[in-house]
Amino acid sequence: MLIAKSPDIRPSEITDEAVYNGRRRFLMAASVATASLFLTDVSAADSSPDLPKLPPARRSPVSTSERPTTYRDITHYNNYYEFATDKYSPATLAASLVTRPWTVGVDGAVRRPRTYDIDELLKMNPLEERIYRHRCVEAWSMVIPWVGFPLNRLIRQLEPTGRAKFVKFETLYDPKEMPGQRSDILHWPYVEGLRMDEAMHPLTILAVGLYGRVLPNQDGAPVRLVVPWKYGFKSIKSIVRISFVEKQPLTTWVRAVPSEYGFYSNVNPHDDHTLWSQARERRIGDFFKRPTLMFNGYGDQVAQLYRGMDLNRYF
Ligand code: MTE
Repeated sequence: MLIAKSPDIRPSEITDEAVYNGRRRFLMAASVATASLFLTDVSAADSSPDLPKLPPARRSPVSTSERPTTYRDITHYNNYYEFATDKYSPATLAASLVTRPWTVGVDGAVRRPRTYDIDELLKMNPLEERIYRHRCVEAWSMVIPWVGFPLNRLIRQLEPTGRAKFVKFETLYDPKEMPGQRSDILHWPYVEGLRMDEAMHPLTILAVGLYGRVLPNQDGAPVRLVVPWKYGFKSIKSIVRISFVEKQPLTTWVRAVPSEYGFYSNVNPHDDHTLWSQARERRIGDFFKRPTLMFNGYGDQVAQLYRGMDLNRYF
């Protein structure tokens, strides 16, 4: 996320338009065929046979019908600063992360603080498949078939008290397994946070898998947050602690560059980052950029959370 914007090359500078349009028609026909395959069973796609399969998950009606990004791209183009600052090496470097045994501790303003073993989270019934748009602040996007469950299901078990105004999440801190933590490029452990109503929103999930199998390490194994209307950096990976707190937590990117990263970080095409215009995005696997949608296209479901707030101030 700190890396400077690469220069834009206009497609017309590369491919003759007639050739391009012919190719595009062919690709569109092919993608319609592929999309209908996906509609029958996303989890049967070519995911890594090395990772355990999750029990069959029913597809949530909130899933987008857009074609999922390939498993290869989802698992080989990652932001995971605990391993590397580029997007290609986490796929190999994250192999050093040990995800068993794994626990997630819960503390703070809850009546029933407790520790979850990862096996309990993997058995949260029912697991759902949620196909979500995933929009990174660097103006690229993907469509990811997550497997997980609404965070509000876990929160209800914990019985938060009236003092719980925000939820704070922390990633594992272990510089032996996470070599990026030996550098001070960010403050460790990685911290993220949500306002209580955002955490309780039915679109907010804890993901334990994708494409029907457990999460690959580089995608945040064994459990990560997914908040589809916010920039990808809010979706913290490899969570070990969840705390219910009264004050807005100081999150990793806000701490690093407060002028660029806000606590809310809702996808907003009208509010540019210094390095990246947020008006358009490149869907990984696509040729042309597409317009970015307010709240990443989830405005009907989430806009009311921010009614009356100045979104330029609370970015
Ligand atoms: N969580 C941790 N712990 N460390 C990170 O570096 N990167 C964030 C987010 N969660 C990150 C993280 C950013 S910048 C993005 S865009 C998404 O993870 C990327 O998720 P993906 O690699 O599964 O696409």
